[in-house]
Amino acid sequence: MDLVFYPHEVLRQRATPVESVTPEIRDALQEMVPLMERSRGVGLAAPQVGLSQRFFVVKLQDDPLYFINPELVATSHETGVYEEGCLSLPGIWAEVVRPLAVTIQAINLKGRPFQLKADGFLARVIQHELDHLNGVLFTDRLDEPLRSQILELYMKKRATS
Ligand code: NI
Repeated sequence: MDLVFYPHEVLRQRATPVESVTPEIRDALQEMVPLMERSRGVGLAAPQVGLSQRFFVVKLQDDPLYFINPELVATSHETGVYEEGCLSLPGIWAEVVRPLAVTIQAINLKGRPFQLKADGFLARVIQHELDHLNGVLFTDRLDEPLRSQILELYMKKRATS
């Protein structure tokens, strides 16, 4: 399993719902954790490892949280700004506006549905990862001309690395 990088087309696809939580899905999710940690990420979505399926993992300080077929149930009206980066676009960061709190429902590794209310950094990471399942990158949430500038910077860095 390896990371794929922008502009890989899988990052732009709407990922497919998981029909059942098979051993393959569980293995993929558990394999994503060390890959994410090695890359110093706090969240990783299946399209970022080339799998166009609707699941992601988030790991802050505690145990990893696994989200399969996640759906947003509610988002706060209040928004906030925080600097984001992405393992699919290494080397660039930008401040992104997002709702401060979300309620999400999903299926866990055991195939059981759960609902989670999150705020702060966790809410931020969840929204970023959920975007990946819809082919959306954090740069899409920036206004022009910043969006073009930052992608240009990324492509330059990529060309020289
Ligand atoms: Ni990302």
